[in-house]
This record gives sequence, structure tokens and C-alpha cells, in this order.
Amino acid sequence: MQYPLAAGREIVAIPGPSVIPDRVLSAMHRAMPDIYEGSLTDVIDEVFDRLPRLVATAGRVFVPIGNGHAGWEMALANTLSRGDLVLVLDCGRFAAIWAEMAEFNGLRVELMTAMPGEAIEPSVVEDRLRRDVHHEIAAVLTVHVDTATSVRNDIPAIRAAIDASEHPALFMVDCIASMGCERFEMDAWGVDVTIAAAQKGLMTPPGLAMVWAGPKALAAHASANLRTRYWDWTYRTEDGPYYLRFCGTPPVSHLFGLGEALRMIDEEGLVARWARHERLAEGVRAAVAAWSTPGGIDFVASRPEQRSHSVTTITTGSIDASRLRDITRVSMGVTLGLGIGGDEGASFRIGHMGHVNAPMVLGVLGSIEASLVAMGAPMASSGVAAAAAVLGAD
Ligand SMILES: Cc1ncc(COP(=O)(O)O)c(C=O)c1O
Repeated sequence: MQYPLAAGREIVAIPGPSVIPDRVLSAMHRAMPDIYEGSLTDVIDEVFDRLPRLVATAGRVFVPIGNGHAGWEMALANTLSRGDLVLVLDCGRFAAIWAEMAEFNGLRVELMTAMPGEAIEPSVVEDRLRRDVHHEIAAVLTVHVDTATSVRNDIPAIRAAIDASEHPALFMVDCIASMGCERFEMDAWGVDVTIAAAQKGLMTPPGLAMVWAGPKALAAHASANLRTRYWDWTYRTEDGPYYLRFCGTPPVSHLFGLGEALRMIDEEGLVARWARHERLAEGVRAAVAAWSTPGGIDFVASRPEQRSHSVTTITTGSIDASRLRDITRVSMGVTLGLGIGGDEGASFRIGHMGHVNAPMVLGVLGSIEASLVAMGAPMASSGVAAAAAVLGAD
């Protein structure tokens, strides 16, 4: 391409941190308020009121200041004891990193890995738990959506497998890549601990995590010995002054941002929001399918029903994915996600989570297609036309 076409509003289409709505940015842009009463304590109450509804739980929510890793650590530290065995179900990259943290923090870890490009097979979980006759496994840990492979695990089916084995392990689910994008119902699905972070579907800058705990997790907390003061749920009571909820000064700007984002989510409605993500993801998938050629573009998630609605990971075969990402960024103004957990030159990711609409998705897909044309890369047919047909359908 002779001249770049990137001047104008850049689109960052990585799978988090995602696009922050102007309303959220504006809500954060303010001088520090009184931290003892007024607008800040109001927004804290509002956030703690809305968050349990976001995951449909009657349980409690805790909001550690930190990223997703902070949420992981808070979940482990409050429910488990040194030497406990955890069964970690990985379908890509992120559950395995959580497993590394668990091991570092003094837990014993057994990692169960899905077939490449596939979700965890619930019957294998059931089988493993049935063999744990002495109930050594204290918790089953997994992710809802793996952001590296864009594979979605079937959480109710894994719960059903745990139930079928009559195993008492806690069930902890990382929803960091799916919260606010994909259907998730903590209590109805029998999840004991849910973890999310602000920077993906929740449309808020990185820096806040959320950990929801149901009754079984709160009971386990009483005897957990990995507890430390900063993460401790007992210390973070909702009844005391504001600083107990955050173990110190509240993350003021983030709370105003998250409050506004949760208002926007409630205004749209969760069901409509899940439907929007599904439809936009179908548009992305139609494009990938149209581009797909033997030895060229293809999905990493091999089974259509396991493909996430918030992120799509694409293998590029003989097409140089690093060059493709460079062209889309420099010439088009679109930043695509790096392929992770494998060869960076052979895959890329499209984030379609949170504050995204049809023109953003079509713009990203159009920019990828134009870049593929510029590279002379093989394409079976137009992905943009395929996506438009899906997004324009009645
Ligand atoms: C599914 C999932 N879990 C955990 C994490 C870790 O979150 P953080 O990078 O905010 O610590 C990420 C980050 O991308 C993720 O996608």
C-alpha cells in the first residue's frame, strides 16, 4: 500500500483490555472526592449491589484491587489450605497459568488438558473424580472461555459431571474473558467461586477484579489456611467502614468507571447483551469460514458449538500472521490480538467483547480482508460479504 489509511479513530480489537465507552471514561475523569461519604460511597454501594446480579448469585462479592491474577489469588487464598490437591481443567493457556500460581502458593496441582482446540470433556472429569475415592481433590478449577484458543467450556456440563461423581470438591470458574459477554448463571450452574476482571466484557480499565463466593466457598473459608490479611474475606466485611471492603483506600476512579459500566450493562439488559455478542461473533465466524483455505486461514477452536462469543482465535497456516497484524495496524489503524501459546507468526486473535457494535466488527473484518489482499494471501471468498449477510439477516 502506498499511503497508510490509519489516521482517524484507531480500533483496538485485542481480547482485552477492550474498548472503554466514552461514558465510562467521563465518569472516571473527576477530582478525588470525599472518601467518607457522598458520591463515592454511593457508587461503592451501587457496585456491590449490581455485581451479584451480574452473575445471578445470592452469594457475596469481593472486589480486589488488581488484575485477573489478583482474583485468582484471592479465590485460592480464601478457600484452600497448603498441600490441598486441586484439579485444573485447561483448554488453552489460562487455566494452566492459574495452576502455576496454585502450585507456587503451596497447593498440589493435577492438570487435565483438553484435546488441542477443544473444550474439556466432562465425562473425563467425572471419571477422574470417581477415582478420587478419598476425596483428596479439594477444588476443580477451570475457565469459562480460554482467551488463547477462544474455546468455551460447558460449565453446566462440568458441574453435572462433578455431581454425577458425587464429589464434594469446590468448583471455581474464571470468567475473565466471558463476563458480560456470554450467558453465565453462578447459582443455577452450581459454581462455588466465580472470578472476573474489569478490562474485558466489563468495559473498564484494568485494575479491578471481582470474586463471587457462594455458601460452600464461604464455609470452606472458615478452615482455609492459605489466608493472608490483604486478601482475607473475613476482614473485608461489608458492614464496616468503606476501607474494609478494599483493605485500604478505595480505587476511586475505577469505581466510578465500573459503576457507569454496570449501569450501561443493566440498561442494555444481560439477555440482549449476550445476544449481541453471539450475533457479532457469528459475523466474525462467517468471515473466518469464508476466508478459510487448506493450509491458510482456519479456526483454532475446532468444534463450532465450543467457539466463544467474545474472542476468536485464527490460525493462518502459510500466511505470515505477524505481517498481517503489522499491515492492519500501520496501514488500516486496526490492532489485532497476538496469537499466544504457540507460534506468533501463525495465528492472531480478534477481540469482540464489551463495547462493540456491527460497524466496529465489520471495520475490523474489512481491514483484515484488505490486508490479506495487500499480501496476496489465499482466501476462498470474501469474509466481509459473508459477515454482512449474517449481520444483516432478519
Ligand atoms: C481467561 C483469563 N484468565 C486470566 C487472565 C489473567 O488476567 P490478568 O492479565 O488481568 O491478570 C486473563 C488475561 O487475559 C484471561 O484472559
